[in-house]
Amino acid sequence: KILILDFGSQVTQLIARRIREAHVFCEIHPYDVSEDFVRNYGAKGIILSGGPNSVIDGDTPRAPQAVFEAGVPVLGICYGMQTMAEQLGGACENGTIREFGYAEIRAHGHTELLRDIEDFVTPEGHGMLKVWMSHGDKVQKMPEGFKLMASTPACPVAGMADETRRFYGVQFHPEVTHTVQGKALLERFVVGICGARQDWVMGDYITEAVENIRKQVGDEEVILGLSGGVDSSVAAALIHRAIGDQLTCVFVDHGLLRLDEGQKVMDMFARNLGVKVIQVDASDAFLGKLAGVTDPERKRKIIGAEFVEVFQAESGKLKSAKWLAQGTIYPDVIESAGKGKNAAHAIKSHHNVGGLPDTLHLKLLEPLTELFKDEVRELGVALGLPREMVYRHPFPGPGLGVRILGEVKSEYADLLRRADDIFISELRDTVASAHDAAAGLCTAEDIGKSWYDLTSQAFAVFLPVKSVGVMGDGRTYDYVVALRAVQTTDFMTAHWAHLPHELLGTVSNRIINEVRGINRVVYDISGKPPATIEWE
Ligand code: XMP
Repeated sequence: KILILDFGSQVTQLIARRIREAHVFCEIHPYDVSEDFVRNYGAKGIILSGGPNSVIDGDTPRAPQAVFEAGVPVLGICYGMQTMAEQLGGACENGTIREFGYAEIRAHGHTELLRDIEDFVTPEGHGMLKVWMSHGDKVQKMPEGFKLMASTPACPVAGMADETRRFYGVQFHPEVTHTVQGKALLERFVVGICGARQDWVMGDYITEAVENIRKQVGDEEVILGLSGGVDSSVAAALIHRAIGDQLTCVFVDHGLLRLDEGQKVMDMFARNLGVKVIQVDASDAFLGKLAGVTDPERKRKIIGAEFVEVFQAESGKLKSAKWLAQGTIYPDVIESAGKGKNAAHAIKSHHNVGGLPDTLHLKLLEPLTELFKDEVRELGVALGLPREMVYRHPFPGPGLGVRILGEVKSEYADLLRRADDIFISELRDTVASAHDAAAGLCTAEDIGKSWYDLTSQAFAVFLPVKSVGVMGDGRTYDYVVALRAVQTTDFMTAHWAHLPHELLGTVSNRIINEVRGINRVVYDISGKPPATIEWE
């Protein structure tokens, strides 16, 4: 196993993620663990993360001395390299030029760490790496025994190596994807240099997490707000695996869910997995509070507040519960950490980020905070949740409340649910063809995948305007539904999906024929920005 000592960098979790991707077991611990902890840990190798401090300030975090005496390979990243330099007799200085972002660095010599790892070769024959840098300080004098491994004009020591002791330092961040060869470099370190075994799988994570949850909660009881979304579902399945009936889930149905969703959630958790779930049908309360409200942000606030109220009332009845479990995942942690003055301007308030108020006086149990979305999905599958559920598109907390434009009415919600279900089933049932690839709608590798999997998020939107149509011999005067499908990796920017016209045609025909009350279907061809993914 690999020990990662965390000096407080925002991207330390990414180091762990890259190592897990290489199927090697690793753990993150704070930098100030004891000397004995390091000695007895049994690490095959140690990684020192980056951090926000400056080693020049003297009284800043240092690695336990045992790190350098354990006889195992050590990799220092950014601050980790600087403290390594300082602790082994080298020196650092304040850089006059700060480097932040993309950089091309030259790899020197033939260190084991960078052997055959390069992005391109300059005309002069220097091997170059495309990396991501973020630092002010730099190593000015390497400790004895070290040789230069990499450099940039602004940072003469961008990498250093003592190959006898197998100590390596890099000023750039191999853990971020912008460092093209970062994954290869970390894999070289943990596998090639440390000799760690590549036998770690998600199943091992379950064993470990189950043990931790049991240790944490003992014989106390836990409540969890189940939404039917991926994160809370995986958290529920994991916690249930650990403590069985000590877990009670509260599933608040606000009446703005997708077709048959409440039923599906209950089937999967209560019936299939045997989880204790209290289903609260609160649709009347929600719709009552939303009557006459048309402003999107007010609708969100009302739904959010009502949700908290219903959830609290229900949890209040579970007097013996001591813990509140949440499916917070690593990107949520980062997102809320960024809520300082530099936080991105709030375009829409997302009610389920930020969580519930602490008036319940419960301790927090968050077993997924180390994982990224795709890892949470993998974990869900390993826990036996159906693939179809785990790989679902995201669904906003306020649900159809922000997909019915203007005032929310139960009549509109019923129409929208059915239209949306038709759109989604057609996307699931239609696979990309060679013809689609030839038309440039998808790549050759995408042939055979469903259009549901080829889009990041797709749904129908209800427009409360009526237009004229003709059906049979009669004139109709009915509502409009808009279809939205986007492709994106981070949901911050998105392209509208170029869906095959036949698919759109089928969806439109089916909606108009099957959902009485809708006589017109339109397709949204706006990107984000300037539009947003949701219509409200
Ligand atoms: P927008 O519409 O802002 O959406 O481009 C980006 C992503 O966020 C989701 N979204 C929400 N999720 N509560 C949520 O939990 C909300 O109020 C909310 N508004 C938007 C949206 O579905 C998309 O995935």
